[in-house]
Amino acid sequence: MDKDSRIYVAGHTGLLGSALIKKLENNGFHNIIARTHKELDLTRYDDVKSFFRKNKPEYVFLAAGTTGGIIANRTYPYRFLHINIAIQDNIFEVANEYSVKHLVFYGSSCIYPKHSSQPIKEEYLLSGKIEETSEAYAIAKMAGVIACKTYNTQFNTNRFIALVPNTMYGPSDHFDTDNSHVLSALITKLHISKENKEKKTILWGNGSPRREFIFSEDVADASIFAVEHSKELENKHYNVGVGIDISIKDLANMIASTVGYNGEISWDKSMPDGVPRKLLDSNRFMDLGWKHSVPLEAGLSLAYRWYLENNQDL
Ligand SMILES: NC(=O)c1ccc[n+]([C@@H]2O[C@H](COP(=O)([O-])OP(=O)(O)OC[C@H]3O[C@@H](n4cnc5c(N)ncnc54)[C@H](OP(=O)(O)O)[C@@H]3O)[C@@H](O)[C@H]2O)c1
Repeated sequence: MDKDSRIYVAGHTGLLGSALIKKLENNGFHNIIARTHKELDLTRYDDVKSFFRKNKPEYVFLAAGTTGGIIANRTYPYRFLHINIAIQDNIFEVANEYSVKHLVFYGSSCIYPKHSSQPIKEEYLLSGKIEETSEAYAIAKMAGVIACKTYNTQFNTNRFIALVPNTMYGPSDHFDTDNSHVLSALITKLHISKENKEKKTILWGNGSPRREFIFSEDVADASIFAVEHSKELENKHYNVGVGIDISIKDLANMIASTVGYNGEISWDKSMPDGVPRKLLDSNRFMDLGWKHSVPLEAGLSLAYRWYLENNQDL
């Protein structure tokens, strides 16, 4: 990518999209194209086509889509499947037609089988049953990963790049109950406990499951790195994680200290825990020379600062 390349960030108001804009701007890319959901609904093929015809983006980061936690996934499974497939299908189609140089697509760790060996390698894809609660979303994401691979094969190119980040967090994350992931949900819950001077906060499960979290700007950085190293990439998807997991109990304690909550945290063991561990093996990507740079504690402070500045109603 040249500094004046036309770069389209789809979904620039979201968690990853906003991080991409920040990283690209900080790296001196000044020809960034962005449209809000209201300005351009990516599920509408004709609108997407006319946008590409007019703007001719050379690079596309596809960070638009419908995402959410367990509650949203359970309540709107068809929406997760349909919207995500429609967006990626439309963008892939027009990116091909208008000869985009590179397009980065994002899968998700939920594409891997529920009971994968740990850490999860890329080749475990389609080797077992996936988690039922996120099935619809995962199928859409798998379709995107496979679309990248088959497109490259069919057209003998390396144009489409599929990255599979583990759970992201950071500024512009969802902090509401319906759409948040565990980390942002814990920030909200422990912040409210602090504000209400609660002596005790009860959290779901026993706190033992281990998860991996990656700061959104690190995924943005990995995305730019992937495009800049596209010649070294194989026609495969690449996991993008930090290589370290943490128990939910330790995460809750870390967040309590970030938000300044001093009460007791207790665990409701009658509530489900989910799979015991979810850590990606990101060595294939890291072997190209990339590494995350934001440690969890520092990232949590940045996410919490954003939350305080943008969730005034709480
Ligand atoms: N969050 C994670 O932990 C995670 C992990 C792995 C992979 N991913 C993937 O990374 C990508 C970005 O995730 P994210 O967490 O940044 O999502 P996000 O914060 O929910 O942002 C999604 C963005 O897409 C836009 N959007 C949604 N539907 C649209 C439509 N029909 N037309 C145009 N824009 C639309 C949203 O705009 P509005 O808000 O205005 O609708 C928002 O800007 C997704 O593909 C996701 O599957 C996320």
